[in-house]
Amino acid sequence: MKTLGIDIRHALYFAGENRYEAMEEKAVGAISTLDEGTGAGSDFLGWVKLPSATPDCLLTDIKATADILRKECEYVVCVGIGGSYLGAKAVISALSDSFADYHAPVQGNPKVLFAGQNIGEEYIHDLKNLLSGHTFGIIVISKSGTTTEPAIAFRMLKDMLVAQCGADKTRKLIVAITDEKRGALRTLADQEGYKTFVIPDNVGGRFSVLTPVGLLPIAVAGHDITKLIAGAVGMESDTLRPSADNPAQTYACMRNALYESGKKIELLVNFNPKLHYFSEWWKQLYGESEGKDHKGIFPASVDFTTDLHSMGQWIQQGERTIFETVISVKQPAVEERIPSDAQNLDGINYLAGKRVDEVNKMAELGTCIAHVDGGVPVIRIEVHSLDEYTLGQLIYFFERACGISGYLLGVNPFDQPGVEAYKKNMFALLGKPGYEKETEAIAARRDSFES
Ligand code: PA5
Repeated sequence: MKTLGIDIRHALYFAGENRYEAMEEKAVGAISTLDEGTGAGSDFLGWVKLPSATPDCLLTDIKATADILRKECEYVVCVGIGGSYLGAKAVISALSDSFADYHAPVQGNPKVLFAGQNIGEEYIHDLKNLLSGHTFGIIVISKSGTTTEPAIAFRMLKDMLVAQCGADKTRKLIVAITDEKRGALRTLADQEGYKTFVIPDNVGGRFSVLTPVGLLPIAVAGHDITKLIAGAVGMESDTLRPSADNPAQTYACMRNALYESGKKIELLVNFNPKLHYFSEWWKQLYGESEGKDHKGIFPASVDFTTDLHSMGQWIQQGERTIFETVISVKQPAVEERIPSDAQNLDGINYLAGKRVDEVNKMAELGTCIAHVDGGVPVIRIEVHSLDEYTLGQLIYFFERACGISGYLLGVNPFDQPGVEAYKKNMFALLGKPGYEKETEAIAARRDSFES
């Protein structure tokens, strides 16, 4: 199987070879810290050997559960937020027909939808409207079981399902993915007799896409989870040891060398709109892992060429604090050619007969040259095609690099203490029991924030 390629030539001279080499020396220590579990956050290293340790019986169970939901439902709603949502969304968007959402739902090949990833009243209203009168199931995903956003969505959708098909049938149409023993969702699932899958204790949300959290929704969408895991297993072995050929080490070192040289913002760039949500997954992975102790590269993303017509000006000539990591997909899955036109009023007959992807590739090359010329370092990651295997490779590549990179930066890459701040205020403002003191304290501050 083809492996992933990484090209740092057009980033190296911006950061300087010495800085990069120093980072490579440090990476040897970061990799052993990760593998020996001697660093901060070592309770959350279950993802490191997860691909190769995934038992066949788990994949079989997930596929069998997915088949039941596929047979019974026109829609399956995945309820979850953050790490309990983004991985599945990323893989399903990358592998599905771009217009899948506009095709009529079919029992046997359900549409996978998402809820509980926001608190939009219109969003849940519109979703309920769409589901009304249709057969649907729910995959509820929450490690803690008490996250507000999915808890609200799950409660509303479960009530709707009971009203539509009765309590007994509802129990068969809900699958819960949660902690093995603890938490509100575990208690409810055990009480109601839902089919459940476990989120391993030692795998944090943003590293959980290769557990049932991602695998069940991906299987329900009809994609091959065995190939996805195979891709990840391949990358696990390619990134095992410290070496100049270890692509995760190269990426982690290059981005940290750039950060040290003043490049504070990383743009993950794709030239394939199917990767939009892959970037959203990546942003959570790196943002939550590295943005702490007042440090960390700000992870941002753009979809090209679309965003060249909006963000292109800033990238070409704005403040020189950015670098780009381009994910380039070598081989498109289909073939479309540009027709000739007798009048040629738009002047594009010179492209007639060419594949759309040939134009896209020249846009990619032209953009990289322009951005490098404009002072933007470019790291290029190439995969052969967009399929389950390469997505498995990419997922594990970015996870492994994230662990190395966090230790190079000197933070605990596996906690997210900052995420609690908004929750504490929200609970105080909503008068959650147990937050009485905080409610009183925040009352005095409301005036200066509200209109
Ligand atoms: O990465 C994380 O840990 C978070 O993004 C969580 O995944 C997210 O907050 C959802 O938490 P939970 O699965 O407990 O509902």
